[in-house]
Amino acid sequence: MSTYTIVTGANGEIGHSLLEKLHAAGRTIIAIDLNPLHEHHAAMCTHVFSGHMGDVTNHELYNSLEQFDLDEVYHLAALLSTSAERNPELAQKVNVGGTLNLLELARKTGKRMQRPVKFLFPSTIAIYGFPSLTEKNRAGAVTEDEYTLGRTMYGINKLYCEQLGRYYDELYMRLAPTKEHGWVDFRGVRFPGLISAFTVPTGGTSDYAPEMLHAAAQGKSYSCFVREDAQIPFMAMPDGVDALMNLAAAPKENLTRHIYNIAAFAPTAAQIAGQVKSLFPDADITFAPDVNRQAIVDSWCADVNDNAARNDWGWNANYGFEECFRDYLAPNIKQRYA
Ligand code: SER
Repeated sequence: MSTYTIVTGANGEIGHSLLEKLHAAGRTIIAIDLNPLHEHHAAMCTHVFSGHMGDVTNHELYNSLEQFDLDEVYHLAALLSTSAERNPELAQKVNVGGTLNLLELARKTGKRMQRPVKFLFPSTIAIYGFPSLTEKNRAGAVTEDEYTLGRTMYGINKLYCEQLGRYYDELYMRLAPTKEHGWVDFRGVRFPGLISAFTVPTGGTSDYAPEMLHAAAQGKSYSCFVREDAQIPFMAMPDGVDALMNLAAAPKENLTRHIYNIAAFAPTAAQIAGQVKSLFPDADITFAPDVNRQAIVDSWCADVNDNAARNDWGWNANYGFEECFRDYLAPNIKQRYA
């Protein structure tokens, strides 16, 4: 009998890229998303749940999923930071409620199979929170346990879910007479802003980088909603997806924590615009900061320290800043809009 890999948010940016890599790795995939998958991606999955049945807050979905033996759950479905700030109650329901539902599914399935289900969780640099730019700049590259006082609903949701995952893995129902924890093997990375050559994100606050690039590739002008000196970490999409899959493959005994920072590059918005212009010399990019979205970016860290991921599971980004634009974005995005 097959064992399955679940991907929620399968129709999102990370989802598309992850489906392709999981499929290439020969996995049997169950995809879940509110929106139906395109044929190309649906063909990579044995089961696709969409619409009402693709809603991670819908309990009916879980009745259908309980029959499957699971190896791994990649729980990507979430409202990103800008969307969550516009609708905090919905963000709580989807980002926290949805995660709790998936953790419960993984726990029950693990217990039934008598072996843990790996649960891969994309967390975020939004869990960090700086009260001022001076402090952000003074702190530089932060480790996992510093400045974890996120200032967005999204960041707070994700920080709580990191803890919830740790609880399911290590402590679940610790007063029960039988052992109830350990049926979920919870692992996560805190993603920086991700940049894909093929898709543009929706509802995030790091979206200025991909928006700027994709606008230029289509010959459209772009007004950037943060200042030129705004700085947060970014990463090429293939590196982000590899990080999740490599963390999933790491021997549990090598892991000293549940959640890891991963770094690639940390440019300012002006430096990103510079790279975009070197690819598309006619790019028309202006800066018109939106005070509130700027404040969110200013509250996130300028960079992350990813020593733990390097030491524990050999994390290393393939693409630095220049390589990301030259070797990954340039060839693919030109073809994408050709
Ligand atoms: N890309 C995310 C956002 O902007 C941050 O993790 O919301």
